[in-house]
Amino acid sequence: MRVTSVVGARPQFVKLAPVARAAAHAAGVHHQIVHTGQHYDADLSDIFFQELGIPAPDVHLGVGSGGHGAQTAAMLAALERALEDQRPDCVLVYGDTNSTLAAALAAVKLHLPTAHLEAGLRSFNRRMPEEHNRVLVDHASDLLLAPTATAMDHLAREGLSGRSSLVGDVMTDVLWDVRDQVAGLPPVLPAGLGAGRPYVVATVHRAENTDDRDRLQAVLAALRTIEVPVLLLAHPRLRARATQLGADLSGGNLHAVSPMGYHAMVRTVLGGAGVVTDSGGLQKEAFLLGVPCTTVRSETEWPETLVDGWNVLDPGLEGLAALATRPRPAVAPADSYGDGHAAERTIDALRDLVA
Ligand code: UD1
Repeated sequence: MRVTSVVGARPQFVKLAPVARAAAHAAGVHHQIVHTGQHYDADLSDIFFQELGIPAPDVHLGVGSGGHGAQTAAMLAALERALEDQRPDCVLVYGDTNSTLAAALAAVKLHLPTAHLEAGLRSFNRRMPEEHNRVLVDHASDLLLAPTATAMDHLAREGLSGRSSLVGDVMTDVLWDVRDQVAGLPPVLPAGLGAGRPYVVATVHRAENTDDRDRLQAVLAALRTIEVPVLLLAHPRLRARATQLGADLSGGNLHAVSPMGYHAMVRTVLGGAGVVTDSGGLQKEAFLLGVPCTTVRSETEWPETLVDGWNVLDPGLEGLAALATRPRPAVAPADSYGDGHAAERTIDALRDLVA
């Protein structure tokens, strides 16, 4: 079976890692990787391939940044050529980025069997580009690989049960591996943030939080009210918007640093008192690592993280100072995201798709 994975943005590289490994260990699977180039900075892309042992992409399209339409269109045109050359037995697309949408469209138009990994997630917020991408890709794809029972329910409600399969969450696979590899290693902190003292890890990159001056200033002001040092892992989108809008990412308790690789991120979250984020992936990583998370959005695609108060939504930012350092809930995080073998199940499901 010849499988092509299409990836392009940071969260997809993380999901690709266990799939590439499972494909390498499976008999008779030839796996190729196409990188759209949506993320091109070394600390958003290359470091993930190196650290997570992902083979170098077979094809790199180098598309880069742009408006949603222009970026997606450039990827669509380039992916059509790449997939026509490769003619795989199936195409695997990941998550909810513009790379996912372009890949699914290119593949189905070439009549290549197309599978969507992390299918069925919904925020029900139609203003999010990721929500458009999820809905469109689920309805375009031939096989929907869902991470959770909630995702399966969403797909059923949209009439997609017949194409859906519950495989579990591949992010659990990679996170358990890396957690074990970094066990005992200290957090990665800048000078001045002493190890042993409490700190909070923060990330902010969603358009809804970064692209409006007042909202961005409000988020940064709320982060400054947290009583312990806040390590802000600044995505390039946040840096670019902060410069344009005249917002300061550091000062007081706020310490902006470059985005981290996966190993450093896991070490640093494990050592933190809490996480504040608008990232889907980090909400779930905090939950799986047993670190309280506060999400600066009005909804989440991962409602399982809200159970027992491990994750709390605070779109209005009023509670952030207290929430960010709240104690860990007494009950351990529930077992909602699979058993760490979702990637093997993904490969099995692809075999059924092409059989
Ligand atoms: C994308 C995804 C989002 C995902 C996020 C993870 C979409 C619609 N959004 O958002 O779902 O959570 O990736 O990181 O696909 N930039 C750089 N260097 C890079 C990449 C981006 O400087 O390597 C800057 C550019 O100014 C660019 C901006 O960041 O315009 C936004 O990048 P883009 O890839 O469009 O979306 P993300 O915000 O990264």
